[in-house]
Amino acid sequence: MTHSKPVALILAAGKGTRMRSALPKVLHLVAGRSMIERVLDTAMAAGLEHPHVVVGFGHEQVRARMDGAGWQVQWVHQIDQRGTGDAVRAARGHLGERAGTVVVLSGDVPLLTPASLTGFLAQHRSSGAAASLVTVRVDDPAQYGRIVRERPGGPLSRIVEARDADPVDKRIDEINAGLYAFDGPTLFRYVDRLGANNAKNEYYLTDVFGMMVADGVVVNPVAMAPAAEFLGINSRVELAQAEAVVRERKVRALMEAGVTVHDPRTTYVDDEVVVGADTVLFPGVSLYGKTVVGERCEVRSGTVVRDSVLHDGVVVRECSLLDQAVVGEATQVGPFAHLRPGARLGRDVRVGNFVEVKNATLGDRTKASHLSYLGDAALGADVNIGAGTITCNYDGFHKNRTVIGDGVFVGSDSILVAPVELGDRSFVAASSVVTRDVPAGALAIARERQVNKEGYREILENKHADSCPICKAGGGGKT
Ligand code: UD1
Ligand code: CA
Repeated sequence: MTHSKPVALILAAGKGTRMRSALPKVLHLVAGRSMIERVLDTAMAAGLEHPHVVVGFGHEQVRARMDGAGWQVQWVHQIDQRGTGDAVRAARGHLGERAGTVVVLSGDVPLLTPASLTGFLAQHRSSGAAASLVTVRVDDPAQYGRIVRERPGGPLSRIVEARDADPVDKRIDEINAGLYAFDGPTLFRYVDRLGANNAKNEYYLTDVFGMMVADGVVVNPVAMAPAAEFLGINSRVELAQAEAVVRERKVRALMEAGVTVHDPRTTYVDDEVVVGADTVLFPGVSLYGKTVVGERCEVRSGTVVRDSVLHDGVVVRECSLLDQAVVGEATQVGPFAHLRPGARLGRDVRVGNFVEVKNATLGDRTKASHLSYLGDAALGADVNIGAGTITCNYDGFHKNRTVIGDGVFVGSDSILVAPVELGDRSFVAASSVVTRDVPAGALAIARERQVNKEGYREILENKHADSCPICKAGGGGKT
């Protein structure tokens, strides 16, 4: 079967020794998304077809994670990781008979953009070469393969891996980015001829270029920029560099779309997060996962929001934590508020300091301004929750629900022992322990009645003076 569109072959079998991790390298996250998924995203966005992914080290983990995320890719198993050339060879059974272009991508080069990939493919196509590769100039060529040319700016003669390079070649600052396009049959003919006589005793894919050039096969090096896009991630240090690049890209895109970001360096926003125009992000804000923030919101310092929806005009004050919460228009949250999964706040709601909300809905204009726990509850509109109110939702066995109607007033320091229901417009006297339903419009008082003992201080002081030897001797007074 032939394919008109280029096929993607992604190399992701390596252990990633330099990561020093039990997790396969390509599963490490860059700004919330695994490297392998980033590479696949880019490949798909650039119109590549039939993604083939070579896996080896930790292949069960990689496959499980990717299957779980709904990816449909052709898995290629490289049993022993004997180098990038060997990885391509492992794909022969799947791709070897196919005519057409095979685009080889490294699973550990996650910052590549679809625009650059598309540009590279266009150059490969128009060049008519059997093989193209991306080269980049870098300040520190470090561990990258060096591009050796016949003369400066002249045709490519070969690629030398850093570990095999002599001091002269080591100084070359044009490196191999690890992104290639090949005529499929030519590629497989050459990977068959690779040897492993080198510093790592591996089959280097990069050796095919020197062999092709020697045979007079047309090879097309494509110089591209910026270098940051072709950063290969082999260590945690490079992982942090990649993270910084993605973060900067994202925050820049937000600013260009009309979001004010007070301090881009300390603002962490995952790729998939959406933020509306005229929203202000204060220093030290983190927005993670699938969070959506509306227009004209304010998210203040120290706040972390994960997988939550904030409608327009929401203010989240300092140091609040929101996780899988929904916050209605113009609602104000925090400082120091904790919205846990299933917290759903209506419009114009107030959730103040040290208030925790879990699996609970709060109707429009409802207020819980201080020191409360509202869990497994449904609160209507215009409810006032006094400071220190707590829903006792857990009896040691089951989670029970508290239902509070519209316009209810709950006095401070009340304990609502679920399951319990407070009818519309009812009242709960301060410091009540409510164990039974309260009818609509009623006042529940569920605490000891206050008793005042008149003259108590006098009685106490006289009693003391009568029995105290020091006071009797006139040597002391009240203590
Ligand atoms: C490779 C290139 C180097 C280039 C750099 C760009 C080779 C020999 N060297 O070096 O010229 O400058 O990428 O980032 O290709 N892999 C397998 N099976 C294996 C070995 C590796 O699938 O047996 C995969 C890895 O998982 C990784 C990719 O191939 O995703 C690259 O391998 P890596 O070991 O990181 O190569 P580098 O040393 O970075
Ligand atoms: Ca690498």
